[in-house]
Amino acid sequence: MATTLAPETPDSPKTGDRTPVFSVRDMWKVFGPKADRVPGSPDAELSAADLRARTGCTAAVRDVSFDVEPGEVFVVMGLSGSGKSTLVRCLTRLIEPTSGTLKIDGEDVMAMDKARLRDLRRHRAAMVFQHFGLLPHRSVLDNIAYGLEIQGMGKAERRAKAAEMVEKVGLTGLERRRPGQLSGGQQQRVGLARALAVDPEVLLFDEPFSALDPLIRRDMQEEVIRLHHEERRTMVFITHDLSEALRLGDRIMLMRDGGIVQIGTPEEIVGSPADEYVRDFVRDVPREQVLTVRRAMRPAKSDEEDGGPALTPGTTVADAIEAVARSGGPARVVDGGRCLGVVDHACLLSVVAGLDGKEAAAA
Ligand SMILES: Nc1ncnc2c1ncn2[C@@H]1O[C@H](COP(=O)(O)OP(=O)(O)O)[C@@H](O)[C@H]1O
Ligand SMILES: [Mg+2]
Repeated sequence: MATTLAPETPDSPKTGDRTPVFSVRDMWKVFGPKADRVPGSPDAELSAADLRARTGCTAAVRDVSFDVEPGEVFVVMGLSGSGKSTLVRCLTRLIEPTSGTLKIDGEDVMAMDKARLRDLRRHRAAMVFQHFGLLPHRSVLDNIAYGLEIQGMGKAERRAKAAEMVEKVGLTGLERRRPGQLSGGQQQRVGLARALAVDPEVLLFDEPFSALDPLIRRDMQEEVIRLHHEERRTMVFITHDLSEALRLGDRIMLMRDGGIVQIGTPEEIVGSPADEYVRDFVRDVPREQVLTVRRAMRPAKSDEEDGGPALTPGTTVADAIEAVARSGGPARVVDGGRCLGVVDHACLLSVVAGLDGKEAAAA
């Protein structure tokens, strides 16, 4: 297959120019009697509560379409019961979608036979669960090697590979312990190492850190960010926690009652919420830490093009406010030597207040 590979820039996963890792269209998962009759019928238009009352069915995933691009962290966020776990299980058909199309690297997942699906789950898409799923009587090392054992790899080889992963996730020295002798955070590192050991194209995380204490949780998030920067491995990360979503996601898909409310970068979700529901969801987010100067800047006047500090377009508004305060004048937003615009105190504060650049200029 002839695909053109665009040069990669490490900070911005390219969208649209490569085959998506996952491509999902019009997907439904309906639980209940005669579930397959719901998609496409008039009942499909009913609210979750009305659908349940009328048919006894739950539409856990409701007409969902999205792509996961190579190398991105794609976060699926939503309150408990919004359909996140069902959706992620549908991606490898651990749960069978009721209708819709599903592709991995352009290959039709719905058409895969049992053997092909097994291969998909063992080699291509590895899952990290909230409740670790570790084998209690095995050592850390053998737990990490488990996925390789299932693949049929010999003992010496899989132990060598597992030992590499021990180091990668910071478990050195604990190889011989049993899971019961580890803290929650350490157990989740074992779960992560086990998923990484099979070197999958994509890692699927279903709320892996929800059961961890806040500080350990923060550590694990850092770990995921570090791993992602090192490897650029594609990740689908499920969470009900907005701050976790904002911290980890290149893009975030917000779900409600099985449907998609909005897909966007953290900056888009916080800066341009699609509706009142999203606006409410992000109300307490410190905007200056998520929004960037790209959104805050105004056109440069001719005498501003050369002077003042230079900021990259990805600089947060919080950092820009500091830079502007230090220099005492506007800062330039510069990308590849080109001045895209400037930010001053007034336009930075107005994006924090919730006005975008144009409204601010008019104000
Ligand atoms: N096996 C099942 N049978 C019936 N309903 C289910 C089943 N699994 C999930 N559901 C329902 O589907 C909805 C979405 O559940 P889930 O995907 O677990 O949400 P989340 O992971 O976002 O908390 C919920 O209303 C849940 O009760
Ligand atoms: Mg869930």
